[in-house]
Amino acid sequence: MSDTANCPVLDRCGGCPRWSAPVDARRAHLIDLVEPVVRRAPDQVHMSGSPLGWRHRLSLRPSPDGRLGLSAPRSHSVVALPGCPVAHPLLDRALRSMPPLPGPAEVELRTNGTRVVCVIRSRSHHGKRRRGRPPAREDLRQIPEDTVDSVVVDGRSWRGKGTLELPVAHQTLRASAGSFFQVHLEMNNRIVSWIRTRLEALRPAHLLDLYSGIGNLGLSLADTAGGVTLIESSRSAVEDARHNARALGVQADIRKGDAHRFQAGDAFFDAVLLDPPRRGAPKVLPQLALTRPRAIVYVACDPHPGPRPQCPASRCRLPHRRAGRLRDVPLVEPCRDRRPPDSRRRPSSIGRILRGTDKPLKLRPAKKRGTLPEPGLPGTRAQ
Ligand SMILES: C[S@@+](CC[C@H](N)C(=O)[O-])C[C@H]1O[C@@H](n2cnc3c(N)ncnc32)[C@H](O)[C@@H]1O
Repeated sequence: MSDTANCPVLDRCGGCPRWSAPVDARRAHLIDLVEPVVRRAPDQVHMSGSPLGWRHRLSLRPSPDGRLGLSAPRSHSVVALPGCPVAHPLLDRALRSMPPLPGPAEVELRTNGTRVVCVIRSRSHHGKRRRGRPPAREDLRQIPEDTVDSVVVDGRSWRGKGTLELPVAHQTLRASAGSFFQVHLEMNNRIVSWIRTRLEALRPAHLLDLYSGIGNLGLSLADTAGGVTLIESSRSAVEDARHNARALGVQADIRKGDAHRFQAGDAFFDAVLLDPPRRGAPKVLPQLALTRPRAIVYVACDPHPGPRPQCPASRCRLPHRRAGRLRDVPLVEPCRDRRPPDSRRRPSSIGRILRGTDKPLKLRPAKKRGTLPEPGLPGTRAQ
């Protein structure tokens, strides 16, 4: 048993029940998760260095009395967290010091390993009210300055600078308070370098990064390709990606747009990075397949994108024998499993699936092939 057994809410919060299991059991669990999806045993399984202290973001809900915690499995009730052993030590310290914060819908603690930012949200990014309200000023003043460097409330800085400089692949990327970033920075770096090796062998003429966020993959790997296009819908992440491209001296076509609506012909590319949100990108793969790229790197935070075990590629009717030939399936350990260990429901995990080959992919698209639409993704804006 690891130190996670010391967590007093381990059985109730649903956050990480498997982290207390021995490493071999966790590895076997990952293989069990992925094998039915890709219809073969994974070639590689990468475990993180430590099961504790790795999480760089914690999304918390305040209970009615303001104590911060996680939703109990299959429940709206909040299990208050006194601390969190899987969180980065700075986040654990910050969490233990937080005052009750009744009101907001979500409180997120974020760190890059040196600074801690507390992001409080009572509204959506579009300004619509979530079921919440901003905390009272007196409550905000109780957030200690020695454990939390900055506080951002509904996109506005209450104290300090809300942006974080993240170490990614020997470079630094900016992430604003409203932008997504990968929670496991160590595994993220290993994944970026794992993809880099494959792309360097492939030498694509143009790389497309769909759901690109702050440019974690597309900008970090831009030097492996002749050119790179990023598509992302969050305004904050697009601004960060443009800032990061300038800072890194990378020439990139960065578009704000809806990647779910990507149509074959919208962008030229021969290799694509695809890292969709948890609900996946079912309509995008057939469109990508139409263009016959040389490689699709599918980064999935949940290896079960559908109601039944299904390879992401099989959504565009990848023939079974081809799905069986997926060559490399590197995995990292589950980031969050809200369900009890004996649950039959699908646990969440981060799985990274790469299909790389020097021959064009022959995916059979779900829709009948027709003429390609004119370039120009509806709703996108080039940089
Ligand atoms: C799992 S994150 C991956 C981000 C990035 N690839 C990385 O490695 O950090 C998914 C990203 O997709 C963005 N996103 C969600 N829905 C989108 C959509 N319909 N179109 C474009 N981007 C979207 C989110 O804002 C988020 O930045």
